Amino acid sequence: MSAAVVTPLSAPEGSQINFGAAISGVDVENLTVTLNAANYWETTREIGNLLDADFDVIRDTLFAHQVVVFKNQHHVSPKAQFELTNRFDPAATSYGHGKTLDAKRSILHPDLKTIPHQPQVQVIGNGFIPSYEGLTNFTLRHPHHKTFHKTSIPADLDLSHTRFYRWHIDAALYDLAPPVVTTLLAVRVPAGRTQTCLYSDLPSPDAPSLTVPLGTTAFISSYTAYDILSPADQLFARTTRVEYAPHPYIWMSPSRSRPDGLGLISEGNELPLDSLPEIDESKIQILPMCWKNPVDGRLALQIHPSAVRKLHLADGTVIDDLKEVRDIVHRLQRPGIAPELVYAHDWEEGDLVLFHNRGVLHSVVGAFAEDEVRLFRQCNVAASSLPEGPGPEAAVAA
Ligand SMILES: [Fe+2]
Repeated sequence: MSAAVVTPLSAPEGSQINFGAAISGVDVENLTVTLNAANYWETTREIGNLLDADFDVIRDTLFAHQVVVFKNQHHVSPKAQFELTNRFDPAATSYGHGKTLDAKRSILHPDLKTIPHQPQVQVIGNGFIPSYEGLTNFTLRHPHHKTFHKTSIPADLDLSHTRFYRWHIDAALYDLAPPVVTTLLAVRVPAGRTQTCLYSDLPSPDAPSLTVPLGTTAFISSYTAYDILSPADQLFARTTRVEYAPHPYIWMSPSRSRPDGLGLISEGNELPLDSLPEIDESKIQILPMCWKNPVDGRLALQIHPSAVRKLHLADGTVIDDLKEVRDIVHRLQRPGIAPELVYAHDWEEGDLVLFHNRGVLHSVVGAFAEDEVRLFRQCNVAASSLPEGPGPEAAVAA
């Protein structure tokens, strides 16, 4: 029996979020400490079932609720964080982006620092850190939308207003399979204030917006994003496959985002394929547009909107006009990020959040002042297999 207690998150006033849960009664670090004790075999024989029972609750909760919050986990080591993350897919071993973060032209390169003794765990955040887990005298930079969006919020509104930086899946989308789960631990969180997150270029009384805690991570359920599509769009989503660009984070590096952070504006800026690192055609990923939940079989509309390059339709047609591809994907995904469907996590120090990377989209949000220090640890591992699509029943109209 597990002592874990699962409490679904309650939706704030006006919100329609239907995902997310908190788990209490499990100490992630102690699970690992016990497993690594000198009397390993004796200990695991004695309480192995209990450990398995705790993990089973965590796993079931993740696939049912997509986002799982543990409070007061300050003491969890990078090793324990990796081991919990890896337990969802024990055959997986390398960080979700492999070594591709090292590529200086990758848009991900400036945002993450690797923990030397646990290379699957990255440090992210904002401000100067004298020393942490073997890293010394380094400066973190919370990504600001002005470095990625085509337009940005005027300077005089920059501390009060913000945008979704980039809605995404944590995935290399070339060679390596998308991680099943990502874990985020809040080590240091600056004092809270709120910001208004805009979906458009400028504030306007008629435009959608969302009040969010400073430096929130925003999540949406890709199951809801699928469920709210029209029957015709659901059929299209079930039967269409998405081809991602090779080396997508280098390919897209000169491109700029729409103001809602949901994909890129098409101006022909993407790098030509012959200027990318060597391309192995067999490593290009063509994935289903809908990914099936491994426990309950629900379908998630799961597309990385910035990395998409072509669409393969059921009748064999390939849409390779990038603007058309992006417009189709944006039309399908935009309803799913409506303000009432966004869960904006209000981080507190010690929060450990697990999210089902194959069932949600997420985005960094917010802009910090330079002296607002934030320190987080992120871990995911490239999965041992690709996500499953809807299967043969996909073409049957609902
Ligand atoms: Fe991410």
